[in-house]
Amino acid sequence: MMPWWYTASSTLLLSLGAAAWDYSTYNSTGFQPPNLVVNKTGTTEPGFIFLGPRGGVQTAGQAALIYDDEENLVYEGPEEVTANFMVQELNNEPVITFWAGDMMDIGYGYGSVHILDRSYKEIYTVTLQGAFVTPDNSTKDSYIDLHESHITPRNTLLVTAYNLTQHDLTSINGSSSDWMLDSHFYEIDIPTNKVVNSWSALEQEADIPLTTSHQKLGGDVGTQDSPYDAYHINAITTTNDGYLISLRHMWSGYYIHNNGSVIWRVSGEDGGDFKQVGNAGFSWQHDMRVFNETDEGLVLNLFNNANTPTNTESPTTGVSLAIDLTKKTVTSLRSLSDPNDSIHSVKEYDGDGNLVLSAQFGEDNAVASYRGYRCQWSAVPFWSPVANVTRTANGANVYMSWNGATDYDNWVIYSGASNDSVNSQQIGSANRTGFETMINLTSLPTSPIHVVALQGSTVLGTSGDISF
Ligand SMILES: *[C@@H]1O[C@H](CO)[C@@H](O)[C@H](O)[C@H]1NC(C)=O
Ligand SMILES: *[C@@H]1O[C@H](CO)[C@@H](O)[C@H](O)[C@H]1NC(C)=O
Ligand SMILES: *[C@@H]1O[C@H](CO)[C@@H](O)[C@H](O)[C@H]1NC(C)=O
Ligand SMILES: *[C@@H]1O[C@H](CO)[C@@H](O)[C@H](O)[C@H]1NC(C)=O
Ligand SMILES: *[C@@H]1O[C@H](CO)[C@@H](O)[C@H](O)[C@H]1NC(C)=O
Ligand SMILES: *[C@@H]1O[C@H](CO)[C@@H](O)[C@H](O)[C@H]1NC(C)=O
Ligand SMILES: *[C@@H]1O[C@H](CO)[C@@H](O)[C@H](O)[C@H]1NC(C)=O
Ligand SMILES: *[C@@H]1O[C@H](CO)[C@@H](O)[C@H](O)[C@H]1NC(C)=O
Ligand SMILES: *[C@@H]1O[C@H](CO)[C@@H](O)[C@H](O)[C@H]1NC(C)=O
Ligand SMILES: *[C@@H]1O[C@H](CO)[C@@H](O)[C@H](O)[C@H]1NC(C)=O
Ligand SMILES: *[C@@H]1O[C@H](CO)[C@@H](O)[C@H](O)[C@H]1NC(C)=O
Ligand SMILES: *[C@@H]1O[C@H](CO)[C@@H](O)[C@H](O)[C@H]1NC(C)=O
Repeated sequence: MMPWWYTASSTLLLSLGAAAWDYSTYNSTGFQPPNLVVNKTGTTEPGFIFLGPRGGVQTAGQAALIYDDEENLVYEGPEEVTANFMVQELNNEPVITFWAGDMMDIGYGYGSVHILDRSYKEIYTVTLQGAFVTPDNSTKDSYIDLHESHITPRNTLLVTAYNLTQHDLTSINGSSSDWMLDSHFYEIDIPTNKVVNSWSALEQEADIPLTTSHQKLGGDVGTQDSPYDAYHINAITTTNDGYLISLRHMWSGYYIHNNGSVIWRVSGEDGGDFKQVGNAGFSWQHDMRVFNETDEGLVLNLFNNANTPTNTESPTTGVSLAIDLTKKTVTSLRSLSDPNDSIHSVKEYDGDGNLVLSAQFGEDNAVASYRGYRCQWSAVPFWSPVANVTRTANGANVYMSWNGATDYDNWVIYSGASNDSVNSQQIGSANRTGFETMINLTSLPTSPIHVVALQGSTVLGTSGDISF
């Protein structure tokens, strides 16, 4: 498990108009990812930066993206809106997981969770069906929301889902049949898509009263088209006796028993079931994670967003809290912030709380990624390396790349067809330079050629034949 301050990296939720930002282009592929601008100010963890930019990003760069610390693209997935792109463990093997689907204006989504192995082969596609009600009564292929896709130690998947329902909102000055969003979570068996446990916030209304919501009911909110989002579930993780969930609009985390009952609540406003010690407050939070749980207590880490498009509480911070079940206290252990740059990038802090890396992938609020991760990852794609040959006056420039391959470090060009070892001759070589490597051949080779990606002298991949 990675230290928490690497996983609790920046979350950008605001999305304004498109703004100027530079995108990369290549000759060996049509990818156009947004440039990642990295400011490294210390020693980072090994691994890559995982992002899923959307919003102001041009369509060609809206995908699951992996970059290295030197600002090079490493992997670009299919063009789609994604969230929570990261490495997790499934059956003791590292896998890539991400949500992809449609995002609604009011900040939730309908989609599926994709699970890829170390060759980027999709080994599981997790979906959720059910009698869900949507703003326009349309049916969806899958109702998994974008906020969470967490693989549990028992190799199941925890996801969030939102359901529209009419409910009595007179306790918060609404009508007796207003439309609202219920927050659900589901634990799903990955190979079969079978639901093994499910939960609804509205079914626990006695313990989670609507009157504790910080989301105000007003204007035209409360219709089917514009439902009231009382809870806004955005994180779940397993605990010894059940689950820990984050309800962003309640400024609270809840320990939910396996049987669905609320065991306790920690509130960022007033502590909830605990007495706040030190600055243990938070608001509009994301990404709650549990560490070191015992019968006496646990450590809770979270991303204290503290902002919405219409409400500014305080600067955004990363927060670590100790919950003591015996003394009934919640104590601040650590708070991370960057006074020089409060928003707009992914940030990594070391164990002493020093900022060691900021990475920006768009301008201001024009572009967003729901969570950003530092993950170790080693992959040999199931597809082959590719190359593009452009003739020069007397020779040719050969552009080579291998999307997603993490481990190769040099290239060799051979004349001849890849299945013809007798007539194949090495005509060029170079060390890897980021995503795409160019070799300038000073005389025009005979067509076709093929290229080989190696780690040292070990061949990892061979292209098809390239005719020109
Ligand atoms: C693509 O190839 C052309 C011709 O060799 C070259 O002028 C251009 O700079 C190359 N583009 C990139 C992104 O390398
Ligand atoms: C190779 O790159 C050139 C310059 O970008 C482009 O015009 C050409 O279509 C590319 N060829 C292939 C086969 O992709
Ligand atoms: C890089 O980060 C340091 C520390 O926060 C800051 O002082 C500096 O201005 C940043 N540089 C750039 C180019 O953003
Ligand atoms: C959705 O279906 C319900 C029940 O049939 C109906 O009352 C409602 O008007 C429909 N809403 C829309 C947006 O079509
Ligand atoms: C969604 O809400 C509707 C209306 O209250 C209800 O009939 C339906 O069962 C709910 N769906 C799920 C999956 O709970
Ligand atoms: C309900 O309206 C009353 C009167 O306008 C107001 O005092 C009260 O704060 C409102 N309650 C909520 C929960 O908005
Ligand atoms: C769930 O379990 C807790 C702890 O044992 C218990 O207090 C609660 O009453 C149970 N709830 C239900 C609905 O069985
Ligand atoms: C969990 O406990 C270990 C051992 O006491 C400690 O080193 C570690 O920092 C704790 N983790 C968190 C997130 O507090
Ligand atoms: C903010 O900038 C100042 C001046 O460049 C620098 O000394 C300080 O370390 C920076 N703070 C962080 C958290 O990077
Ligand atoms: C290589 O492949 C081509 C086309 O698939 C085939 O025609 C040719 O006989 C093969 N050559 C060798 C040496 O196997
Ligand atoms: C290629 O990389 C190797 C290993 O890092 C290094 O020893 C060698 O000098 C590099 N070759 C060139 C041409 O840069
Ligand atoms: C390729 O090499 C030739 C000969 O050294 C040189 O004239 C030409 O400018 C080079 N082309 C590129 C694109 O580097």
